[in-house]
Amino acid sequence: MDHSIENNNSINYQKIDQIIDKYKSDDSMLIRILQKTQQEVGYLPMKVQSYISERLNIPISTVNGVVTFYSLFSQDEQGKYTVGVCMGTACYVKGAQEVLDAIKKELQIDVGETTMDKLFTLKTSRCIGACGLAPVITVNDDVYGRLTPADIPSILYKYIKTHKKTEIQL
Ligand code: FES
Repeated sequence: MDHSIENNNSINYQKIDQIIDKYKSDDSMLIRILQKTQQEVGYLPMKVQSYISERLNIPISTVNGVVTFYSLFSQDEQGKYTVGVCMGTACYVKGAQEVLDAIKKELQIDVGETTMDKLFTLKTSRCIGACGLAPVITVNDDVYGRLTPADIPSILYKYIKTHKKTEIQL
């Protein structure tokens, strides 16, 4: 099947073709192509992985092996904001689990899931090097420290509000 003119579920296969053509002669081309494709599409669903595998003539098991091995790749659609809860030792000792539980409760999702409105994805991480601020969470590039579960609703609400404002402006 020729995907180059197909725009299935808003996946731009033409753009993926451009990425493949640009990077296919690189040594580390598969990782590079997957990275660039994820930047373009937002995530790497199975149909995109199989398209790349066909185009590069690499077994799908190899492509999927790379996608599942590296945590930077995601097979599921991600929210606009990724909430990362540090579960490193310092954060854990200072109550990261309670903070994580508060976020799960507020967003009604589990770790690895995305809210129905595609606004938030919840993840956990290892130490992010801000132990002095433990317990710490990140929301995209923003870092919040010395948290208690009671801080969570207002932090999340800030992003909900920003998102609504952007939507109204559009
Ligand atoms: S353990 Fe959380 S920032 Fe280091």
